Amino acid sequence: MNTARRKVFIKTYGCQMNVYDSARMADVLAREGYEPVEGPDGADLIVLNTCNIREKAAEKVYSEVGRIRHLKEAARREGRRVEIAVAGCVAQAEGEEIIRRAPAVDVVVGPQSYHRLGETLARARQGGAAVETEFDETKFERLPAPPKSAAPSAFLTVQEGCDKFCTFCVVPYTRGGEFSRPAAKIVAEAKRLLSSGVREIMLLGQNVNAYHGKGPDGRDWSLARLILELAELPELARIRYTTSHPRDMSDDLIAAHGACEKLMPYLHLPVQSGSDRILAAMNRRHGREAYFSIIDRLRQARPDLALSGDFIVGFPGEEEEDFAATLDLVERVGYASAYSFKYSPRPGTPAASREQVAESVKAERLARLQALIGEQQKRFNAATVGLTMDVLLERPGRRAGQLVGRSPFLQAVNVDAPGRQIGEIVPVVVEGLGSNSLFARLAGAAGERLTA
Ligand code: 5AD
Ligand code: SF4
Repeated sequence: MNTARRKVFIKTYGCQMNVYDSARMADVLAREGYEPVEGPDGADLIVLNTCNIREKAAEKVYSEVGRIRHLKEAARREGRRVEIAVAGCVAQAEGEEIIRRAPAVDVVVGPQSYHRLGETLARARQGGAAVETEFDETKFERLPAPPKSAAPSAFLTVQEGCDKFCTFCVVPYTRGGEFSRPAAKIVAEAKRLLSSGVREIMLLGQNVNAYHGKGPDGRDWSLARLILELAELPELARIRYTTSHPRDMSDDLIAAHGACEKLMPYLHLPVQSGSDRILAAMNRRHGREAYFSIIDRLRQARPDLALSGDFIVGFPGEEEEDFAATLDLVERVGYASAYSFKYSPRPGTPAASREQVAESVKAERLARLQALIGEQQKRFNAATVGLTMDVLLERPGRRAGQLVGRSPFLQAVNVDAPGRQIGEIVPVVVEGLGSNSLFARLAGAAGERLTA
């Protein structure tokens, strides 16, 4: 019998939830005797963990399957079998259709069913059903415990799904309704991460601040309550969370930004548009003034809070004056970074069947918005030059003798430091700007301190 471990290559698209899910799929497959490899060549199983948020993201899957089909055929000629699995949100949205359109695909598993990936593969080999897209809230209970991780910053999914039904978004359909994991399970997973040297945890959820998991006291805990509990763990130095909805930015969470030093001064709080008319058409359930008021209260609690957001341009019905309101909102808030996208009609969502804005208009608005956001990001980064701040050193940099870490504001920082310092939080003096990162040196005794 061949006892060599089979090799799996997992390619991840899209958001941080998918990054977390890919790691957990690797745990599931380790149980089945697979070891992860860094590329498709030589892999026995190739998993594409897909994203369906915009059309371009979804189409990438089919072009990638087209490419790896050749690997599969070449392997077959050598008498070796290569299997292809499509996981993630495209799997959930398209199910069977994927195998019809791309017969090289062996199995399809949705984001709620990947704990059954091993069984699904085995069933498909016997000629059985190869598509698994059931919603199963017991997924987390059925996943194997993750192996010890060497990376000092880790993701931890606390909440999945969404009940908001923004009219542009597929998430409520692909990830299902809102579900929060019990607090004790999250604390146990955090402790496990910390025991392997993790210093920073990013709490993840599609709508993470809607978190309302059962606490050990039998009551529903809010995200703020959970954060304060995690902050009690001595080895945990930094806490972050993403992605949030303005409607769920509750008073206790805003207060936590002032009260909890371990909660990093960076918040991704998407608003999507600055126009009340468009916010209503998007079913965002709040207006621009409500967003400004949340930002004001957050900044009162934590004056150095850096903000990030998401914006959609060219949503159906968006006129020039609506777009001007978005630019005005961006000017007023002042972002440290932000993501912006052209509206992409997603099948089955309400806005997809409305009258669409012309592609050229979308492209032109996106360019204007991105120029403004780019300027703000540059200004934010430039303001940190000369300051001393703490950086969690995470991994080797591009140059020998250089490490890359993150500032409290989630800026990537290149620091000349020896590899043994990975995992340490060190004060650095920011000396210069790269295109998407900062350059810094380890601080001596002197230096102006920005954060504790
Ligand atoms: N078109 C364009 N952007 C979208 N997003 C979500 N759905 C769409 C869509 N149909 C963006 C939103 C969201 C981010 C993750 O992706 O800005 O916050
Ligand atoms: Fe999608 Fe976020 Fe709206 Fe939920 S709140 S529907 S995940 S954009």
